Amino acid sequence: MEIKRILSGITTSGRLHLGNYLGAIRHWLKLQDKAQNFLFLADLHAITTSQKPDELHANILDTVIVYLACGLDPKKSTIFAQSSVYPHAELAWLFSCVARMGWLNRMTQFKEKSGKNKEQAFLGLYSYPVLQAADILLYQPTHVPVGEDQKQHIELARDIAQSFNSSYGNLFTMPEPLILGEATRVMSLRDGTKKMSKSDISDYARINLDDDSDTIKLKIQKAKSDSDAISAENLENRPELNNLVIIYSALADLTKDNVINKFSGKGFSELKKELAELMISKIDPISQEIQRLRNDKAFVIKILQEGKERALETAEPTLKKAKELMGFINF
Ligand code: ADP
Ligand code: TRP
Repeated sequence: MEIKRILSGITTSGRLHLGNYLGAIRHWLKLQDKAQNFLFLADLHAITTSQKPDELHANILDTVIVYLACGLDPKKSTIFAQSSVYPHAELAWLFSCVARMGWLNRMTQFKEKSGKNKEQAFLGLYSYPVLQAADILLYQPTHVPVGEDQKQHIELARDIAQSFNSSYGNLFTMPEPLILGEATRVMSLRDGTKKMSKSDISDYARINLDDDSDTIKLKIQKAKSDSDAISAENLENRPELNNLVIIYSALADLTKDNVINKFSGKGFSELKKELAELMISKIDPISQEIQRLRNDKAFVIKILQEGKERALETAEPTLKKAKELMGFINF
């Protein structure tokens, strides 16, 4: 299907990192001129795990700042906070009476995030994908560009759309996940079998988009490695090497094979040295722009206000129509 309208978002639960950039934001940037973009801050999703109010507040502002610093243009993309557009929460309730318990029981993210203590997890963490389905379907996007980990949630949104359409009448467009490039799952720098994530307790596991050059250099230097020379053989059993090669290829716009050939026979240290330089050349301008925008809160709030108005123009009619089809009285 032609990419006409995209919708995507990032949970505002911490500092954004290289995985968010390579898996999501970088693709949104490329789509800005080709499609209609709705890009939001999933701040209602952030509270599915405990958040301190002042930290949530700061993370919401910082996430918009990162979007802007990466080059997203509010004239081309509608940038807004989920919590400011009431149809998200309301449609999520309606969808929680469309989705089935069995569908949610299959979601791997809940299993991972709730860990051993399921009894103490918030109900919202369990129903998280239902809110995500509302986020998506309110805007009738053709595509949802995300990293690999979100695929299952988009499939659930499709199941909800299909079930709603067949029970109440055809309303929702079926969205396609758009999982682009090689870096769809950037791994932790400390453990190549674990996803790079905001919630990792070690800051050395990730590159934050606001890290300065010295920090980036140090984190790459300290990234887990092994003592064998670089080669294409046995890459699947060397997750840390595989990860650095993928990151390099994504940042340099090269294929994985190109990168392996370039470093073949050399040691980890050479790859790390060049990777740090390449990464600094890409991340440092973003990091500097983040620092600049942090001093301009009024500008950031204005972007969110404009985004909210534009988002409502699309979301509100969809919610009204859904309620009408379900039998509610609209007045
Ligand atoms: P986190 O796991 O750090 O909390 P989110 O779940 O908020 O990140 O993800 C926001 C977006 O960034 C999603 O599209 C997700 O697929 C993408 N993403 C997050 N982590 C990675 C990663 N390590 N590699 C690739 N994409 C990622
Ligand atoms: N669950 C996504 C994440 O953690 C964030 C998100 C919420 C999202 N709603 C969405 C992504 C709708 C795409 C579409 O990254």
